[in-house]
Amino acid sequence: MIRKCTADDFERIYEIINNAAQVYKGLIPVEYWKEPYMSRDELREELDDDIEMWGYEEDGELVGVMGIQHSKNVTLTRHAYVCTSRQNHGIGGKLLSHLRKLTSEPILIATWSNAVWAVQFYEKHGFRLLSREEGDLLQRKYWSSPEVKIYASVVLGDERWFDFQTR
Ligand SMILES: CC(C)(COP(=O)(O)OP(=O)(O)OC[C@H]1O[C@@H](n2cnc3c(N)ncnc32)[C@H](O)[C@@H]1OP(=O)(O)O)[C@@H](O)C(=O)NCCC(=O)NCCS
Repeated sequence: MIRKCTADDFERIYEIINNAAQVYKGLIPVEYWKEPYMSRDELREELDDDIEMWGYEEDGELVGVMGIQHSKNVTLTRHAYVCTSRQNHGIGGKLLSHLRKLTSEPILIATWSNAVWAVQFYEKHGFRLLSREEGDLLQRKYWSSPEVKIYASVVLGDERWFDFQTR
């Protein structure tokens, strides 16, 4: 079941993110790796920043989360995480399909460039990688990421983004 997260889900969202983010260890810039990967304060700040989180529930427990955030004239997909033990069972795909129905705006996603599985996951769902130059420009425009994160990340856009560009 997919449902919108509430304030009561905070602790579970925190657990899922930090469980799934273990895969980043040794892969992302050292200055970005810490344990937990995202502290409660950071998560609180993110959620206060108008990110709407959705969750996938199994047997009464959230096992995956994904957020959307409106930014200027696009929608960003943020914080996509499925518990390690439940990855590769289609949960991320179901969450992504659900979120895509919630907006008519073009969707952009930024992910660590070394996270090849995540890039493949989005490509499987029709997203396409943007050039390094465009990705960097868009991260500065739509996200508030520090330069070190921009440098180590790539941006993917959905079909609507590419249609929007050719109009
Ligand atoms: C990326 C993520 C959200 C996808 O959710 P999921 O439920 O595992 O994905 P699905 O089962 O719907 O889709 C599986 C596809 O995703 C990719 N994928 C997901 N996990 C993978 C893994 N551990 N290794 C390789 N490919 C993986 C593959 O393309 C796979 O397709 P395939 O089955 O044809 O090989 C999840 O794997 C995750 O939380 N990863 C760690 C955190 C992360 O990278 N988040 C993305 C931040 S933008």
